Amino acid sequence: MCGIVAITASGRREDLGLILTESLKRLEYRGYDSVGIAVIDGGALRLAKNVGTVDIVARVEGFARLSGSVGVGHTRWATHGAPTRENAHPHTDCGRRIAVVHNGIIENYAELREMLRSRGHVFTSETDTEVVPHLVEELKSSGTDTYSAFKKAVSALRGAFAIVLIDVDEPRRIFFARRVSPLIVGLGDEAILASSDIVSILPFTNRVIVLNDDEVGYAEPGLVFIEALGGGPVDLGGRVVRVEYAMGEFEKGPYEHYMLKEIREQPHSLAQTLSGLVSAKEEVERAVRILGGSDTVYFIGAGSSYHASLIGALYLRYLGFRAYAIVASEAGAYLRGVREGDVVVAVSQSGETIDTLLAVRESIRRGAKVVALVNNPLSTIAREADAYVYLRSGPEISVAATKTFTSQVAALVYLGSALTGDSSRVDRVLESLRRLPDVTALVIESSESVAKSLAKRMSSVPSAYYLGRAFGYPISAEGALKIKEVAYVHAEAYPAGESKHGPISLVVCGFPVFFTVVGELDELIEGNIEEMKARGAYAITVLPSGMATPVIEKNSDVMIQLPRLSLEVSLVTHVVPYQLLAYYTAVERGLDPDKPRNLAKTVTVF
Ligand code: G6P
Repeated sequence: MCGIVAITASGRREDLGLILTESLKRLEYRGYDSVGIAVIDGGALRLAKNVGTVDIVARVEGFARLSGSVGVGHTRWATHGAPTRENAHPHTDCGRRIAVVHNGIIENYAELREMLRSRGHVFTSETDTEVVPHLVEELKSSGTDTYSAFKKAVSALRGAFAIVLIDVDEPRRIFFARRVSPLIVGLGDEAILASSDIVSILPFTNRVIVLNDDEVGYAEPGLVFIEALGGGPVDLGGRVVRVEYAMGEFEKGPYEHYMLKEIREQPHSLAQTLSGLVSAKEEVERAVRILGGSDTVYFIGAGSSYHASLIGALYLRYLGFRAYAIVASEAGAYLRGVREGDVVVAVSQSGETIDTLLAVRESIRRGAKVVALVNNPLSTIAREADAYVYLRSGPEISVAATKTFTSQVAALVYLGSALTGDSSRVDRVLESLRRLPDVTALVIESSESVAKSLAKRMSSVPSAYYLGRAFGYPISAEGALKIKEVAYVHAEAYPAGESKHGPISLVVCGFPVFFTVVGELDELIEGNIEEMKARGAYAITVLPSGMATPVIEKNSDVMIQLPRLSLEVSLVTHVVPYQLLAYYTAVERGLDPDKPRNLAKTVTVF
């Protein structure tokens, strides 16, 4: 995880510290354990860093007072070493002339550290990153220039990294390298920047070069040089891409939190996803063509994207295809059976989750074709897949996925129906998906007050179950994940029938159990509700209106009734009350739902 940013501006800027602060705020979704910046000014390196969020650290450490023309910034999700000031990036060499920010993991840091220690280098942190400035310092001590030393140092690293380095001896340059962890170079008129994500540099430019694995280089105003490690200089002619984003999409507007903004934005984001699916014909047809030639389809994702994968796989099965969903971090074991003729659908909002990326690479190695479903067409997964479908949900800032999850489900349902090749089915599904914006607005409106009042109860319980059968299970899983992530309520999702094999032993008087009923009623769930109720559970049933049977009515303490819709539309909208419940429970508990403890939005470490 971690977010990195760097800038080399055309001239000295009084506001360099402020620029880096603003960029880091946009990267905070990648980690918020600690924050730091370093600039070169007046022939010296100036460093400010500490534990905490960008707002707090920037204020306490006086980021705004730092000026210069070259600087780097970092927001950390701790891997090696606790979140302390010493472990915060940037890290420096012994002479404090070199500063480095890094995202990823350097696997051979321990041996490099030992070697450098034996050469007299003194380390001040427990991080893997700190070996880089010392290694460059060591290599420079024999007269090597900064870039050659940097290149040599990078070649000695094993693992995953996006690194940017600055050096007082080269006061106009930023040096960068990438392997696995994402890094882009932005080409602005007033500055060249490097960053983990384009969102952080948009105020300067939307023209970027996405670095490939094992590319290394440097930039100064008016000049960008990139070469392949072990290869020659790269021709940048065809590498510059322009990304269209409206800056307003990044603002919180009148909302207290991004999470609520993003939940309420779903009518709009779903409209965007649908119009993209219909208008980007080539993109979608290519994906459907690849899927159409498959023996078996494997959906792979992490977190919410895994839950969308479960829905995608079940929907394909419902349509008569052979499909499975695999948790990305377990893919290594499950992909053994994947072979030529199979298709892997990589579901990833960011397109950068490392486990999903590695699964993509392994699938390609095994001869399978890969279709990516992403919210960032420049992401590594999109670029390495044989085809990608772009969700067009707009930027999602809150760590917990909400609007991108519903967009993923809508896109998967659409792709599934297109795969049948039955044009009347596709028309029917499309017709019903077109109602999504209105229906989602209705679901938000009708479930908000009950979510708020239930949140009061949920804010004081330690645990809850979310149960469902068939499609109700993955939606339950997403509901349980939301409240666990943002409100720290221990919540477990189970296939309703399976709950008798263990979970029910925890149920005592007042224990909340949610039942998710989607599509047609599977009458067996009535029995599951009765079983829980008989043990004193507090039963909350989320179901389409008009579907409550006398048994459900009698046994439900609360019923959240949603509009009765086609299966395809329900699959998308049914999660919305759970999103709202998680949000309001977090608020009720005085938590910040946008930045849940220990989590990061984009997980780029194993
Ligand atoms: C993290 C985020 C989740 C997200 C998951 C997968 O855990 O907090 O919200 O669902 O990563 O991310 P991806 O970008 O691959 O969808």
